[in-house]
Amino acid sequence: MAAASAPLTVYVPRDSSALSVGADEVAVAIAGEAARVGGDVTVVRNGSRGMYWLEPLVEVVTPAGRRAYGPVQPADAEGLVAAWRRDGAHPLDLGLTESLPYLKGQERLTFARVGITDPVSLDDYLAHGGYRGLERALTLSGEAIIKEVTDSGLRGRGGAAFPTGIKWKTVLDQPVERKYVTCNADEGDSGTFSDRMVMEGDPFVLIEGMTIAGIAVGATRGYIYLRVEYPHARVALLEAIEAATTAGYLGADVRGSGKAFHLELRIAAGAYICGEETSMLESLEGKRGEVRVRPPLPAIEGLFGAPTIVNNVISLASVPIILDRGAAHYRDFGMGRSRGTLPFQLAGNIKQGGLVEKAFGLTLRELLYEYGGGSASGRPIRAVQVGGPLGAYVPESDFDTPLDYEKFTEIGALLGHGGVVVFDDTVDMAQMARYAMEFCAIESCGKCTPCRIGSTRGVEVVDRIVAGENREPNMALLEELCDTMLNGSLCGLGGLTPYPVQSALKHFRADFEGVRPPSQRDSRS
Ligand SMILES: Cc1cc2nc3c(=O)[nH]c(=O)nc-3n(C[C@H](O)[C@H](O)[C@H](O)COP(=O)(O)O)c2cc1C
Ligand code: SF4
Repeated sequence: MAAASAPLTVYVPRDSSALSVGADEVAVAIAGEAARVGGDVTVVRNGSRGMYWLEPLVEVVTPAGRRAYGPVQPADAEGLVAAWRRDGAHPLDLGLTESLPYLKGQERLTFARVGITDPVSLDDYLAHGGYRGLERALTLSGEAIIKEVTDSGLRGRGGAAFPTGIKWKTVLDQPVERKYVTCNADEGDSGTFSDRMVMEGDPFVLIEGMTIAGIAVGATRGYIYLRVEYPHARVALLEAIEAATTAGYLGADVRGSGKAFHLELRIAAGAYICGEETSMLESLEGKRGEVRVRPPLPAIEGLFGAPTIVNNVISLASVPIILDRGAAHYRDFGMGRSRGTLPFQLAGNIKQGGLVEKAFGLTLRELLYEYGGGSASGRPIRAVQVGGPLGAYVPESDFDTPLDYEKFTEIGALLGHGGVVVFDDTVDMAQMARYAMEFCAIESCGKCTPCRIGSTRGVEVVDRIVAGENREPNMALLEELCDTMLNGSLCGLGGLTPYPVQSALKHFRADFEGVRPPSQRDSRS
């Protein structure tokens, strides 16, 4: 592969998932071994490629492209360095990274650079097409920028799928001087990690997206509200913000345009409800994270009473490529009203967990089996929760539904932030319904009655059903309670908790009635 003395460039991820399985130790071991044998080896810390079952995934640069090895342990360093100085053959060799089926079939637009560049190197970002979107935006009027975003069909990736361009236009149209751009990086949904992966693996793309948003609507200040459990994202973002400021991509005069955009990082309060946009604004203002009554919308009266863009990380990080390649390029991906791509996150009982960015339209079954490889336990997949803890449980009979906002609504489910949590046939869905109510009870901000009281009553009712106490009347009561929460809650926490509960009741009723066939019961319990 390389002459024994030829310089080598080796990539070892700095992503949290890779760090959790020893990537730092692997990087140290490879550098140490290279020094020991007198080799010229540069170790670059990249983002993750999103194939988590292979982490730490180490790549080495070859004339044919990057070659992947994994999962690598520190003890493998000696053998790997020796292999790289010969022909590269090694038991952990996976072949050329780009040819791995999991990556090859993906359509990476937002994640185009994640895993490829050094996340905190501005030079690397620029060398891979970074800041071309902002350079173009600086030649356009606010209206023209927003038209591009609207025409691209981009809808909010934080869960509600609201058209991003319409939100920005509302902020642009407010005749006041002080406006803000805020990024919702609270990422509280179970099984989701795409925001974190972008912030750790390509923080400049988020910074660029926020800067374009600020230039478009006339906001001169932005805040990233970052989940407190993301210390590595914090480090990457702070380094990137500093580099962007030093190079004039942020600050009082963005690239000599005469337009200002300052960006600050704020650490979140550590509550699920602080991801709800109005709670997030309260928390950013230094108050308790409690939901605000709407109207007024944040776009009209948001942070400190000023018109404010609130967007998810992925929404904002998708903007640079839209401005760079044009609205039509982005809109050409997807189906129906779901345009572009969504970075799906595979988690739970799945063999190949990780990130799959694909155009809307592939089916859930394709995602689960062609990418995920089926369940990790090898047992049949029984239910899949899509869209976080407030998402419906999708049964096997609906696995052929295309991943599309409207198609999911038709089956009583939601795509949300694209998190997919998998359960095999040992799952007890009555307990999952109970968990949904319990989660809501714990995380409720307490402002409205259906959620604050209803969720606690919900736990009690499920317990009575499972215990066989007045089962039918209690089933009816649970349905009624769900209806009240759905229609009477002030925000999505109480308003969407019925989704997992009702879907469990609809598709997995036997679990509530204690009549599940023994073949489906967990043999471990
Ligand atoms: C209980 C609750 C939690 C939420 N958590 C998040 C979150 O962690 N991140 C996020 O981007 N949106 C979250 N949302 C959605 C936000 O309220 C809001 O719709 C979103 O940030 C808007 O950005 P987007 O249009 O780019 O999706 C949550 C909503 C609810 C009701
Ligand atoms: S639904 Fe729950 S979290 Fe939302 S405002 Fe009401 S009490 Fe608060």
